[in-house]
Amino acid sequence: MKYKRITIVLLLFILSIVITSCDRKVQYSVYSPNHNHEVIFRLSDSGEPSYEINSSGKQIILSSALGFKFMDQNPINTDLEVESIAVDSVDEFWEQPWGEFRKIQDKYNELSLQLKEKGNEGRRINFIFRAFDDGIAFRYHFPEQPGMEDVRITDELTEFTFPSDEEVWWMPVHRENSYYESFYRRTEISATDTINTPATFESVNDKYLAIHEANLTDFASMTLLNTGNNRYKSDLVPWADGIKVYTKAPFNTPWRIVMIGDTPGDLVTSTMMLNLNEPSKIDDTSWIVPSKYIGIWWGMHLDKYTWGQGEKHGATTANTKKYIDFASDNNFDGVLVEGWNLGWDGDWTADGTAFSFTEAYPDFDLDEITKYAASRNVRLIGHHETAGAATHYESQLEDAFGMYEKLGVNAVKTGYVNKYLDKKEWHDSQFGVRHYRKVIETAAKYHIMIDNHEPVKGTGIQRTYPNLMTQEGGRGQEYNAWSPDGGNTPEHTTVMPFTRMLSGPFDFTPGIFDFDYKTASGTRVQTTLAKQLALYVVLFSPQQMAADLPENYEGNPAFNFVRDVPAIWSETVVPDSKIGDYVAIARKEWEGENWYMGVITDENSRKLDIDLNFLGDGKYRAELYTDGEGADYRTDPYPIKFSTENYTNGDKLTIALAPGGGAAIKFIPVTE
Ligand code: NOJ
Repeated sequence: MKYKRITIVLLLFILSIVITSCDRKVQYSVYSPNHNHEVIFRLSDSGEPSYEINSSGKQIILSSALGFKFMDQNPINTDLEVESIAVDSVDEFWEQPWGEFRKIQDKYNELSLQLKEKGNEGRRINFIFRAFDDGIAFRYHFPEQPGMEDVRITDELTEFTFPSDEEVWWMPVHRENSYYESFYRRTEISATDTINTPATFESVNDKYLAIHEANLTDFASMTLLNTGNNRYKSDLVPWADGIKVYTKAPFNTPWRIVMIGDTPGDLVTSTMMLNLNEPSKIDDTSWIVPSKYIGIWWGMHLDKYTWGQGEKHGATTANTKKYIDFASDNNFDGVLVEGWNLGWDGDWTADGTAFSFTEAYPDFDLDEITKYAASRNVRLIGHHETAGAATHYESQLEDAFGMYEKLGVNAVKTGYVNKYLDKKEWHDSQFGVRHYRKVIETAAKYHIMIDNHEPVKGTGIQRTYPNLMTQEGGRGQEYNAWSPDGGNTPEHTTVMPFTRMLSGPFDFTPGIFDFDYKTASGTRVQTTLAKQLALYVVLFSPQQMAADLPENYEGNPAFNFVRDVPAIWSETVVPDSKIGDYVAIARKEWEGENWYMGVITDENSRKLDIDLNFLGDGKYRAELYTDGEGADYRTDPYPIKFSTENYTNGDKLTIALAPGGGAAIKFIPVTE
C-alpha cells in the first residue's frame, strides 16, 4: 500500500547533489535522507566509472570500479560520458502479508546517470544509485540498443574496496557445499579468497557493513573474489560453459547492496533488501499464511525411519495419522511428510530422475491422509525432493502442484540435494535462478507456498512472490543428526542473525527436546533446552517447525512455549548483541500486543542486562524459560527454569545464560 510518494526531476536541495566538472573529470553524489551516508559516482579523465561510499564523514568503501565484460564485445568500463542525470526522492510505506515487520518504510534518494561511450560503439549504460538510511544500493541498466540483442556476460567488474584489512564474517563459495551449508568464519579480508554474500564486516571506520544483493532475477549470483589490497570484485557464478549471464538489452542487473549500521543489530533490522524488490505480483494474498508445523522428518535424519520403502518406512498412512493427531492437539497446522512418493529407494541423492511427484508409495494413501488431515483442521505439507534433477522436476511441476491444490495441500517443501542441478549447473547460477523462479511462479498459480531447501540465496524475492515463504541455505538443525564434524557449534546460531539471516527467512527447524539420541558419529545438539526455545524468536521463519519426534514433547512443560510462539511479527528490535558471542532479539506478535524475546549465547556462560525499552506503556507479565541450575550444553542440557515476573518499559532484565544456553520470554500486557 502506498501512502506517500514525492517525485522530483532535479531538486538539488533535497538530494544535496554535488556536481564537479573540472576538465573532463565528473563527480556526482547523493546522500541518504538522514544525511549519514553518501555515495559518490566519478568518471575519470578517460571515462572510467567508479564509486565510493562515506558514512558519518568517513570513507567506508574507497574508490571502486564499475563495468562489465562480454563475449564477442569490448568491455564497457571506459570512454564513457554522462549524457543526462535524474534524481528522485521517495518516502512511502507498504505492508507485508507476513514478515519481521508489518509496515515497511521505503525512504531513499536516488541518482540515476545515463552514460554513453564516446567512441565508435556508442553503447549506452545507466547507473542507478539509491541512498537509504540503512545503506547504499546500486544497479546497472542497459537500455535497448543496437548490438545488444544477444549479450553474453563473461565478467562483472564491480569492486568493493575497504579502507584496511577489515574483519569479515564469511563462508567459501562451492568449496565445501553448493548451497551455503558452511560455518561462517571470521578472519581478515586478506585471509579469504572467494566468499559468498551476505558477507558481514565488523567495524569499518566504526560501522558494521554487509555486502549482498537484492532482486536476483534472471542473472547469476554475485560472489566476492578477493583481488588483493583490501578489495573484492564481483565474481558471478558461471553456467557450465563458463558464460556468466545470457541476456539481451534492455535489462537490469540485481542491486548490489552495502548495508550500513552503527550496531550489528542495525543490520538485522535493515529493510533495504526488501525495499529493492518489486511489489507483490500476487494480488490476492489471502491464501498465503504463516504456519507452525511438525513432520515425519527428524526420524529419518536419526535413522529411526527411512525415506525409501521397507520396514522402517516413515511415510505410512498410520504413522502420518498419528502425526496429524499430535499436530491437531497441539496447535500446529501443518504436517510435513517426506518419503511419501516413488523414487527414494536406493541412493536417492545420486540421480533424481526416478522421482515421481504425483505417485505415492503403496503404504501411503494420499487421499485418505489429506481427508483425515482436513477433518482434524490440519494440512499435509507436500514434499518434492529432486536430488538436483531440475529439468525432470519441471516436466512434472504443473501436474504435481495441480494435484496438491485439488487435495487441499497449500505448502510444499522442495529440495535439491546434489552438488549440481542437472548434474552440471550450480544452484546459484543463472540456470538455478531461473529454475527456482519457475517453481515459485508455478506454485503461485496453484496457490501453493514454498519452503525451498538447497536454494539459491535469498535476495528479497518474497516481496514480489510472498508464496516463497522460507528457505534453507544454511547449516540447519539436521547437521546435529549426522554431521561428521559433530554438529553445529554453540557459536553458529549467534553468527547467523548477522550473516545468513540478512538474506531472509531460514527453515532452520528448531525445537529438539531429546539430547540423548545415538548417532554413529556421536553428533549431537550443542545447546541447552532453553536455547532451543529461544531460537524460535531469534531465527525468523514464517513456516516454523517443531523438529523433534512428537513423543519427545509429550508432558514437557517447555513445549508450551513452542505451541505458543508466533511465526510472524509486526515489529523486530535487537536490544543487545555481539556477533559470534550472543544476541537478544525481541519481536511483537503480528496482531495484538504481546512481545517475545529470544536470547542466546555461544559456548560461554554470561549474564546480560537487557533494556526493555521496546515494551509499550504499562505493566507486562513476563513468562520466562531460562537455563536452570547446572544447565550446560556439554554435560546436561535439560535443566530449565520457568518463572513469572512483572516488567515495565524502563526496566532492565538480567538474564543468566548457561554455556550454549538461552532464554525465551513472553511479555503479556497486564490489563487491570
Ligand atoms: C535435505 C533437506 O535439507 C532435509 O530437510 C530433507 O529432509 C532432505 N534433504 C531430504 O529431502
